[in-house]
Amino acid sequence: MTVLVTGGAGYIGSHVARLLAQRGEAVVIADDLSTGIPSRLEGAEHATLDLAAVDAVQSIRAIIRAHDVTSVIHLAARKKVGESVELPEWYYSQNIGGMANLLEAMKAEGVTRLVFSSSAATYGMPDVDFVAEDFNCKPINPYGETKLIGEWLGRAASKAWGLRAVNLRYFNVAGAGWDDLADTAVANLIPIAFAALKAGETPKVFGDDYATADGSCVRDYVHVLDLADAHLAALKYLERDDRTFDTFNVGTGTGSSVFEVLAEIKNATGIDFEPEVLPRRAGDPPYLCADVSRIKNELGWSASQDLASIVSSAWKAVASAK
Ligand SMILES: NC(=O)c1ccc[n+]([C@@H]2O[C@H](COP(=O)([O-])OP(=O)(O)OC[C@H]3O[C@@H](n4cnc5c(N)ncnc54)[C@H](O)[C@@H]3O)[C@@H](O)[C@H]2O)c1
Repeated sequence: MTVLVTGGAGYIGSHVARLLAQRGEAVVIADDLSTGIPSRLEGAEHATLDLAAVDAVQSIRAIIRAHDVTSVIHLAARKKVGESVELPEWYYSQNIGGMANLLEAMKAEGVTRLVFSSSAATYGMPDVDFVAEDFNCKPINPYGETKLIGEWLGRAASKAWGLRAVNLRYFNVAGAGWDDLADTAVANLIPIAFAALKAGETPKVFGDDYATADGSCVRDYVHVLDLADAHLAALKYLERDDRTFDTFNVGTGTGSSVFEVLAEIKNATGIDFEPEVLPRRAGDPPYLCADVSRIKNELGWSASQDLASIVSSAWKAVASAK
């Protein structure tokens, strides 16, 4: 009865793996350590493995057998939007090829429970403020496409051979549940602003003339530990036979503007700064927040941590890594 966590050396996967272990679950991690950090594995059972490699099906099957794996949380993926525009073939082969190998191995070994890391990037540029799961997904980059196709692949396997799959569409993930598990990728607003401050630079705001309360873009920030907890709720949901849905937003249902996030960063760091306002970037919807009614009603999950605790935990983890 072991949970296989792919991508468990990554920022989110390491939180999921550690929370599972803390709640008494046996865990094995599969990760190629391409963006993952070995120190995050901290005594966990793990195998170094590229899920998209030609011999990956056999390797995954061996892990499943050796560890008596009964469910899988699949987080391993390439996630840089810009890179996915430059290298679409690689993104498809890594994210879709890797998932196809994983499902083939699961099918061969009779493992039927899967939680899949999807993303709000599947929605593209929705014209509503709070987007619900049944919104017509139109991703605007290859990264978002691979996430949507991953959902379809899981759905097709459910029909074909009885896979039980749940897709979690994460919104803006930030914070740290443990000080040694900081988000080191510098790809999202909070780590980017921290990196700017550490370099003695001023955090930037792209556009202050949107039709939002303070003119900056509004997003839904969810604490990574709350997100990890949603994976455990999803695993429980997969045990039920009365499942109605396979896709859930994971967010707080509350929007925070760029200026509000930067104000929290001033509080948490004690560094006073005046952000530099630059023109809008292409492809940024003014408002993108989660309608969280489905996950609340079906999984009984809701986020417990607010923006202040997201930012302060992220800063504490970054500061302790110095
Ligand atoms: N961070 C976010 O805000 C966010 C938002 C939405 C969705 N997601 C999704 O969450 C998942 C985890 O994201 P993260 O932020 O922790 O990223 P991350 O880069 O820190 O973690 C990804 C992990 O997967 C591993 N990996 C990647 N490709 C692999 C492959 N082919 N075989 C084996 N291992 C592989 C990497 O080494 C890394 O440890 C991804 O699927 C990502 O698309 C993240």
